[in-house]
Amino acid sequence: MIILDIDIEKGEGKIIDYKGQKLGIYKNENGKIFAVIPDCTYEGCRLNWDKKEKNWVCPCCGSRFSYEGKVINGPATENLEKATI
Ligand code: FES
Repeated sequence: MIILDIDIEKGEGKIIDYKGQKLGIYKNENGKIFAVIPDCTYEGCRLNWDKKEKNWVCPCCGSRFSYEGKVINGPATENLEKATI
């Protein structure tokens, strides 16, 4: 799934506005885009991108999710919703 008009470098992750919705975008070294809904599945805090670890981290209680949205650390137990773009 490739989005041509999103300004993002390979290896970078960030939150963007896309059609009125916040999306958590990551572009891998091959140029493939991964998109998730960047809201923690524990209590709903907006996630931050961790550049070093290349994953999503919750500022509230510290849950971590892969760029594909899979839970790495709790307290969250549910994966992030993948975004369809
Ligand atoms: S709301 Fe995300 S871990 Fe607390």
